[in-house]
Amino acid sequence: MANLKTTYMGLSLKNPLIVGSSTLTATADKCKEFEDNGAGAVVLKSIFEEQIRAEVSSTYDTLDGNMHPEAYEYLQADMPMRIGPASYLEKVSETAEALSIPVIASINCTTPDKWVNFADKIAAAGADAIELNVYDIPSSSNISGADIEQRHLELVRAVSATVTIPISVKLGSFYSSIPAFTKALDQEDIQAIVMFNRFFQPDIDIEDLAIKPSTNLSRPEDLRTPLRWIAITSDEVNCDICLTGGVHNAEGAIKSILAGANAFQICSVLYSQERNPISKILSGMNEWMDNHHYETIEDFHSLLSNKHLNTKDGFERAQYMKALI
Ligand SMILES: Cc1cc2nc3c(=O)[nH]c(=O)nc-3n(C[C@H](O)[C@H](O)[C@H](O)COP(=O)(O)O)c2cc1C
Repeated sequence: MANLKTTYMGLSLKNPLIVGSSTLTATADKCKEFEDNGAGAVVLKSIFEEQIRAEVSSTYDTLDGNMHPEAYEYLQADMPMRIGPASYLEKVSETAEALSIPVIASINCTTPDKWVNFADKIAAAGADAIELNVYDIPSSSNISGADIEQRHLELVRAVSATVTIPISVKLGSFYSSIPAFTKALDQEDIQAIVMFNRFFQPDIDIEDLAIKPSTNLSRPEDLRTPLRWIAITSDEVNCDICLTGGVHNAEGAIKSILAGANAFQICSVLYSQERNPISKILSGMNEWMDNHHYETIEDFHSLLSNKHLNTKDGFERAQYMKALI
């Protein structure tokens, strides 16, 4: 029987399957269920800056306007840190206590000062690592791609200067040069890059003339985008790489490792009707490894990354050279 043990961000994992951040990882009970089904680690639901702001503004309204002005000022200034993350911190410590596999907290914020404070408190609450979900919508034509990259690097730098637990950075796929940006991130003090987040994409209701939410679950074909970029970048960086996006079965999991990922995350498949996809993926990996006489993950890790393939014909070809049909 193959051995699926591996390390990710310096953490020992019993296997490279990580349950990715979503509503499903918002409670300790559900995370425990994923552990019981065999997951190697879990990433908690992200805490979002909007959540914190909303919580904070409703509490500002309850502050007594007659209190001492200095006390009022102090409470106002301190409020975001005292109240915003409190329930998230409780969730982190509750989950970390309930699980024996690594628990990775996740933060989505856009301003460096808040990131730093949340990250520090989350680390103290018992998270084994932090995933920084650097995602915002650049909706102003005054902000260039270089500005955004610079801001993301500054955020990462600020957090890594504060916390001592491992840090990963979860990226979207919309950078003009993914190899250049991952290389720049790798110069920072981070342990992993997670590729790629799947963004919430609102739809339009043409009868009500309104924006409507849409579910945005992946399909197995979506795996090809992270596979390509991991195959191209994984040999160029020193930090670990984690694939997220389109792993629905053992085949997708195996492809992730072959392309150069150290671990992979699953999310959409957990929303499907499939019964216990975690144990199916793990047993499928085991069977494939046995059939191919691979004893450990290391034996086939990165075998199909660009450098190992030693050809630019595969992952780097951008256009069809000729019509396929
Ligand atoms: C309903 C839902 C909620 C999600 N919430 C988060 C989140 O809070 N933070 C985050 O970093 N990613 C979030 N994601 C993205 C997933 O973690 C994952 O990266 C993405 O869905 C791609 O993986 P998949 O193809 O296995 O679904 C969410 C995805 C879904 C479908």
